[in-house]
Amino acid sequence: MQNQSLYGTRGRVEVIKGDITRMEVDAIVNAANKSLLGGGGVDGAIHRAAGRDLLEECKTLGGCETGRAKATKGYKLPAGMVIHTVGPVWRGGDRGEPELLHSCYVNSLELAVQRDARTVAFPSISTGVYGYPIDKAAGIACRAVKGMLEQYPPEKLEKVYFVCFDDRAYKTYMDLLSIFD
Ligand code: AR6
Repeated sequence: MQNQSLYGTRGRVEVIKGDITRMEVDAIVNAANKSLLGGGGVDGAIHRAAGRDLLEECKTLGGCETGRAKATKGYKLPAGMVIHTVGPVWRGGDRGEPELLHSCYVNSLELAVQRDARTVAFPSISTGVYGYPIDKAAGIACRAVKGMLEQYPPEKLEKVYFVCFDDRAYKTYMDLLSIFD
């Protein structure tokens, strides 16, 4: 545990109520937009906490497609790396949103493993400004992470954190923790 007081843990997964910018992990994931040039929500908080150098590196990346992921350094963040992924905007669920959201988690973790980041913290991608219903999104997140944990041993992927900013997300993830039994 780090700075947060509410949490639940099951195997290599931990659900935390708190602020992802304070996580002392190898990599935090950012719920970015396709420009990768910052925004509101968790994206804004990460850019503010990392400092201006993060934006400068992001400018060199040429944006990112929905469902894909790109990595930068963490600069002033306690996390050494930021993995920027772009979640889908919710349009009712039949425009490929579930597959794209699943890809965000899988591609972020693939990139983490490639870059030797063994502890990774996720926010609840797409469930803020992008409007994805939290219960559906959390189910996809947990299934995607479970699949990756089955694929990679602890030496490659040691711990995955779901960092929930609000009570609703926290409760939703806590209720899903048992799928990791
Ligand atoms: N730590 C953890 N989670 C947070 C934090 C934080 N510091 N701040 C907010 N959240 P959102 P999206 C939660 O809107 O829906 C940006 O403008 C928040 O409560 O940040 O993927 C981007 O540039 C919510 O549960 O991301 C894009 O344009 C979750 O993070 C767009 O928003 C995601 O909410 C992306 O929208």
